[in-house]
Amino acid sequence: MDTATWQRCQLLYLCSPHNPTGAVIPERMLVKLMELADRHDFVIAADECYSEIYFDEENPPVGLLQAAASAGRDDFRRCVVFHSLSKRSNAPGLRSGFVAGDARIIDRFLRYRTYHGCAMPPHHQVASRLAWEEEAHVRESRSEYQQKFDTVLETLGGCLDVEKPEAGFYLWARTPGPDEAFTRDLFARQNITVLPGSYLSRESGGTNPGAGRIRMALVAPMDECLDAAKRIRTFMNTL
Ligand SMILES: Cc1ncc(COP(=O)(O)O)c(C=O)c1O
Repeated sequence: MDTATWQRCQLLYLCSPHNPTGAVIPERMLVKLMELADRHDFVIAADECYSEIYFDEENPPVGLLQAAASAGRDDFRRCVVFHSLSKRSNAPGLRSGFVAGDARIIDRFLRYRTYHGCAMPPHHQVASRLAWEEEAHVRESRSEYQQKFDTVLETLGGCLDVEKPEAGFYLWARTPGPDEAFTRDLFARQNITVLPGSYLSRESGGTNPGAGRIRMALVAPMDECLDAAKRIRTFMNTL
């Protein structure tokens, strides 16, 4: 990107691990972005709600604040991260999360949140605290996702152009034709719901980066994911 564009930037929004691709921004890139934030005076806001859904227990994805601390930025200046229970604990309905980072930004965010947010009911607060404090269920959930990815990818192997992501719980598969028609026909013939990739992004420079892809969420129990993969296989064989 050219200097004039960086100069106009006020807020850089990141999502890593990414929804829908599962891509992870490497640490060296995060450090580079922090240098650019200093040079051009902007804030980096990172949505890291998939940070605990990964495959190698020894190698979790590096987060923005971790990269900042490693680079000696102990004040986390210009950086804020957003996290949520919804993926980590499979509790999307609770709307429980936290924001962390640069104290000056958090101070202003708190003032904003006071007027533009609503308080969480006490019973949600109690349940949230239990979920945030406990790690065993998160490790168990990671292991279940690992098994689901292995099983589903084995079942889809050779019939659909799809790879295991770096992290997250989505498969981001290529479709042989337009993604919307593929999604509609898959539902009509096999009762399987996926999301057309073009619905997840908008056209830019004449192309929609999500076109020709579908997003599949492996959030259902293992037997349902396997059944869905078999149906997709059957569907692909009829094309
Ligand atoms: C990238 C991303 N951010 C945020 C959310 C929503 O988080 P919450 O359930 O805490 O509102 C989602 C859920 O789909 C998501 O994919």
